[in-house]
Amino acid sequence: MTGSIPRGMFLTVEGGEGAGKSTQMDVIEAVLREKGIQVLRTREPGGTPLAEEIRTLLLEPREEPVAELTELLLVFAARAQHLTSLIRPALARGEWVLSDRFVDATLAYQGAGRGMSEETIATLRHLVLDGFSPDFTLLLDVPAQRGLERAAARGERDRFEREARDFHERVRESYLGMARSEPHRISVVDASAPLVSVTAAVRSAVAGFVDRIAGSA
Ligand code: TMP
Repeated sequence: MTGSIPRGMFLTVEGGEGAGKSTQMDVIEAVLREKGIQVLRTREPGGTPLAEEIRTLLLEPREEPVAELTELLLVFAARAQHLTSLIRPALARGEWVLSDRFVDATLAYQGAGRGMSEETIATLRHLVLDGFSPDFTLLLDVPAQRGLERAAARGERDRFEREARDFHERVRESYLGMARSEPHRISVVDASAPLVSVTAAVRSAVAGFVDRIAGSA
């Protein structure tokens, strides 16, 4: 590897339900550690005490129907808190941050899943993120039905996991569309392959990203 490792990179992991994000977050952390990079792990919705409370509000199944706009505002409220009190300060200190989901999930779930307009999401995105975006995103792609079965096997299903298969198929297509339009940022890995192959592909994608940015630093 030539060059030096830049400070303060923001990495995210995305995918539908049951894609194996937690397992692959461990793999990413290990690859980075081997390259001498410590990473701060976090997740969305959540990542701070207040944002974790908003996560509970979002995920808990409830009798009262949740209006789509309420859901979207809660997602962005959690993100505003996460960004202000955890992500930006860590990046400013030069740390690397690895988040289990970020704004791509909003485009996939609230945009494609719920059908909220791109304009509405773009307005909130501008307000909360002001152009901020991940430097690298790993997309774990799995067919909706397969992922839902894996998620169901984990136990009690949350409010999103209870959505119909169509919803999850729209989420998947939306993520794949984002990967097609931003191939430099988003690396897609087939998460329905055997675990050893998924892990090898993730290792190679993350190592490739680090080598690329170290080479251009
Ligand atoms: P997870 O921790 O299993 O990924 O669960 C988080 C859930 O929250 C998941 O079903 C996707 C959903 N979600 C959204 O709907 N919009 C968002 O912006 C984010 C970050 C997550």
